[in-house]
Amino acid sequence: MALDINRIREDFPILSREVYGRPLVYLDSGATAQKPRSVVECEERIYRTINANVHRGVHHLSDMMTGEYEAARETMRRFIGAASCEEVIFTSGATMSLNMVASAWCDYALGKGDNIVVSHIEHHSNIVPWQLAAARKGAELRVIPVGDDGALMMESLDSLLDERTKVVAVTQASNTLGTRPDLGAIIDKAHAVGAVVVVDGCQGVVHGGVDVKALGCDFYAFSGHKLYGPTGTGVLYGRRELLEAMPPYMGGGDMVDKVTFEHTTYAPLPLKFEAGTPNFVGAVAMAEAVRYLDTLPSAEVEAHERGVCDYATQRLMEIEGMRIFGTTADKAPIISFRVEGCDHYDVGMILDKMGVAVRTGHHCAEPTMARFGVTGMCRASFGLYNTMADVDSLVEGVRRAVRMLK
Ligand code: ALA
Repeated sequence: MALDINRIREDFPILSREVYGRPLVYLDSGATAQKPRSVVECEERIYRTINANVHRGVHHLSDMMTGEYEAARETMRRFIGAASCEEVIFTSGATMSLNMVASAWCDYALGKGDNIVVSHIEHHSNIVPWQLAAARKGAELRVIPVGDDGALMMESLDSLLDERTKVVAVTQASNTLGTRPDLGAIIDKAHAVGAVVVVDGCQGVVHGGVDVKALGCDFYAFSGHKLYGPTGTGVLYGRRELLEAMPPYMGGGDMVDKVTFEHTTYAPLPLKFEAGTPNFVGAVAMAEAVRYLDTLPSAEVEAHERGVCDYATQRLMEIEGMRIFGTTADKAPIISFRVEGCDHYDVGMILDKMGVAVRTGHHCAEPTMARFGVTGMCRASFGLYNTMADVDSLVEGVRRAVRMLK
């Protein structure tokens, strides 16, 4: 069954706006996705009708809000295939989720002389927290190299992993190259040396989803705002026994059992990792985004996004001097590119004037830029609402930019 994309687009109010008098062509969903009306209305409904702090009051609204917050947790649990809600921690986004593990797990499990393995194609959020942890503990950061097509050089894993490897942190899909590493193989090899595997699911969860139990990862992080949900929301999934062992990341209200000046005991999972007032409205609206996705046939959505990405790849490659970074066969619908002789910022600015929104710059992945010998790229990243007509506008815009800049 083909998706009725024009109908779906009507669910996203922002897509009908204009930019500089031209229809908006939004090709920056990798940075943040647009929100369906149901998500926008969910936030409004809560603020209008039941807003009250969660887990803190006996009063009616607090009770209702707590019920919705915990129901949202169950929705997210089901969405990622976690075994229990205790394994689903609400965070402000993937960056917080990854920092939580890098800080708290490494405090617990990392020692001097140990090592952490990341891949060359990670977002800064899945590099810098591990660098900080390694520096704190006197550990080493090791890097899985990447080949010219954007695939990880898996043959190097055996020499990078050893009995001192405590963490392997890797993306499910690169935000720059679209590469989807072979997570199954990485997890098997990491587990064989006793390391835990942390997966950055930001770009992966929205293009194909995840089943964390089937995948067998130890921790999984993602943001709500890339998943058609609100900003300031996200999830850290962790296997229960690891979360039980991991010390708290932040101290504060709601994460404690009993507090005295001499000694504090902690709340059970998942609240042990949710100090302070959480973004409960955002969490409920993130679950609403998942409910919206549930109304769509996921295989068709994936096929549609792949079709748009394939068409864009083919049309862009017709432009002389075009270079696309990341050419693996099963990549996520993300195209980073440069045109020979044209500065990427200039191209992005000319596209913008035509109403076409792409990301320009290093995409928070400077090591990836360095690997491919550039300081920045343009990036078109596709969401479920993009069309072949959007691709035509992109191609027309790039052609015009090339004419103006060369
Ligand atoms: N990490 C986001 C991106 O790739 C912001 O654009």
